[in-house]
Amino acid sequence: MGTTARRVEKFLDLGKQPIANAFVSPGKCQDEYFYDLEVGLDTETKLVSHMNCVDPPLMFNDSYVYYTSGSKTMVQHFKDIAGYLKEKFQPRRVLEIGSNDGTFLKNFPLENTVAVEPCGNFANYTREMGYETHTEFWTQDLAVKIATADRFDLIYSANCMCHIPDLEDTFSAIYYSLSDKGVFVFEDPSLAEMLERNSYDQIYDEHAHIFSVTALKNVLEKAGLEIFSVDKTQVHGGSNRVYVQKKGGPQYEDGSLEIELEQEKLAKLDKVTTYKKFAKRVEKSKIALVELLHDIKDGGNKIISYGATSKSTSVFNYCEIGPDLIDYITDTTPDKQGKLSPGVHIPVVSPEEGFDDSVDYAFLGAWNYLEEITKKESDFIRRGGQFITHVPEVRTLRGEPICQP
Ligand code: TYD
Repeated sequence: MGTTARRVEKFLDLGKQPIANAFVSPGKCQDEYFYDLEVGLDTETKLVSHMNCVDPPLMFNDSYVYYTSGSKTMVQHFKDIAGYLKEKFQPRRVLEIGSNDGTFLKNFPLENTVAVEPCGNFANYTREMGYETHTEFWTQDLAVKIATADRFDLIYSANCMCHIPDLEDTFSAIYYSLSDKGVFVFEDPSLAEMLERNSYDQIYDEHAHIFSVTALKNVLEKAGLEIFSVDKTQVHGGSNRVYVQKKGGPQYEDGSLEIELEQEKLAKLDKVTTYKKFAKRVEKSKIALVELLHDIKDGGNKIISYGATSKSTSVFNYCEIGPDLIDYITDTTPDKQGKLSPGVHIPVVSPEEGFDDSVDYAFLGAWNYLEEITKKESDFIRRGGQFITHVPEVRTLRGEPICQP
């Protein structure tokens, strides 16, 4: 982080990994980029991060393929939170960092609302809707460039802060851009939930950090910011939504921060031994998954994967699971269809083409949308089809809930 000296203890190695969302055109596999995915704990701030973060332009560029609106769950989620934030804080000037296809932003008026999105293909969505949009990474320089005398009353960012390697610069830029009474609200996958669910697939190139509230408190404080409330949400396999203001700002702490910090202390999120135990569970999960897939395949069954997610890129590359075990992946995103999954090169097809009666088992690449998926795929379950998951442990299931710790 920044120029500050860090003492980081490595606890996990997920091997050589490709860019999780860089789906490959058949015949173009030779240019693929790989990096070593190693994860460590900063013993001072308690921040869990990649030992070597991937350079952001390699991941976030004009070929980016993740659409927020690809899931009904997420559309409803952002509609709900936008409504709540409008009513609670009545912001006049709003900034969203990492606005993707505008799913959140479109709930706010065109005037006085600004979008920041480095992926040009996605920035075009909000620009075409009429929002002031900056196709750039969020940095101090950009904050200075877009600032007016009137700072932002609400800065919102979902699944983006954890993508940014340099949090010192990022949060200082937030401080600079926020009005004195303004609120900064952001949400990202929760470290506590990841440990609880053994969902190591939350770790991939884009997630430079997996945040605990403890670490966020420490890092935000360095930028003159303080947390006044924390919500838990179920999206993305369990996330924390954190409400922040300038130190000494007008919002009262509602007690939720204290509860979260206490729970994280009980779960020993400040101790490296906790993460070393997690790493052991991850290794066991790999062995169990590969064994299960081989057993099912040897029984003459057809296995596919459901959702060509970043998470499944991480699992398949770590476990070395390729087209010999998984025939193909179905995914609703047109830009992923017809391509090969990053690294292990499993073909991606549309659900219409691939999710037919020939499928016996479907690995849940998008296990975090189990409810939405089982509703949609009730015919598959009715005819005896089974899902496979590794969360929280490796097993088959017919649509029952995975794990609600
Ligand atoms: P998500 O878990 O958000 O992905 P990531 O791990 O990359 O954050 O899942 C989104 C992907 O899953 C997206 O490519 C669309 C696909 N998907 C389906 O194909 N069918 C579905 O029913 C759902 C909910 C998602």
